[in-house]
Order: sequence, then C-alpha cells, then structure tokens
Amino acid sequence: MGNRTLAIIKPDAVKKNLIGQIIKKINEAGFNIKAMKMVRLNKDSAGGFYEVHKERPFFNNLVEFMSSGPCVPIVLEKDNAVADFRTLIGATDPAQADNGTIRKLFAESKSENVIHGSDSDENAALEISHFFSRKELLENYI
Ligand code: CMP
Repeated sequence: MGNRTLAIIKPDAVKKNLIGQIIKKINEAGFNIKAMKMVRLNKDSAGGFYEVHKERPFFNNLVEFMSSGPCVPIVLEKDNAVADFRTLIGATDPAQADNGTIRKLFAESKSENVIHGSDSDENAALEISHFFSRKELLENYI
C-alpha cells in the first residue's frame, strides 16, 4: 500500500497545458494516483492551505498565484511517498533543481514552480484533508 503525499499541479502548469506531461512523470516514477480533481481556490482557501507561511514576505504573492486559476490536487501513494516525491519535483527554485526533476523540466521561477509536494507525513495528512473528503478517498462514489 505505501504512504501518501499530496501533490498540487499549480495554476501556471494548468495554464500551460502541462497536466498530462506532469502526471506521466509521476506515474513513471512509481506513484499510484488515489484521488484527483481540478479546483479553483479562492484567497481564503489558498491562505488556509499555506497558513504555515503566513508571516513570510512572499505569502501574499503565493496566495494571489494559487488563486489565479484552476489547480489539480492529487493524492499519491508509494513507499516513502513524501521524500520520494520531493526528490522527483526538485528544489523550490527551478534554477537549483536537479536535471530530470519536474521543476527543472517545466518551472520558470521560485514563485511559479508548477508543482507542490507535502514536506512530512503529518502535513501530507493535513493537506489531503484540505482537498478531499473521506468519501472521496475511500469510496469514490458520486
Ligand atoms: P510549495 O512547495 O508549494 O510551498 C511554498 C511555496 O511558496 C513554494 O512552493 C513556492 O512556490 C512559494 N514561494 C514563493 N516565493 C518563495 C520564496 N522566496 N522562497 C520559498 N518559497 C517561495
């Protein structure tokens, strides 16, 4: 079964039609998709998701950007999901990201960096609950 992490394909990547290419990389790296949707965050929801960064100088820009268009949250499962996904996406700043990582391939800047990945198992659980109900995670009924 493995562990879970939350990925978000961010609004810049959705606008550039990169959803398919990014999901292909994620699957090729051995992650299974457990739940996925396309949503547009409002500022309150984006601010709530990034609450831990609210004192940072980039917080307002981050909230503006994350609410600027639809994004695609995805629940992923794999052994060692959190750490392996952060390796796959690369450093926050694409200029510092390793070759072959998703940010190196597709991102243009530290603030518009195409993808998010949870940074701990505890935050993964919190972040998953921000986007997905128990019903969506366990049953997939509509
Ligand atoms: P993410 O992994 O989604 O988590 C916090 C986000 O803040 C990060 O990716 C970046 O996109 C964004 N961010 C914007 N500016 C900065 C910055 N100067 N330093 C770190 N993160 C930043």
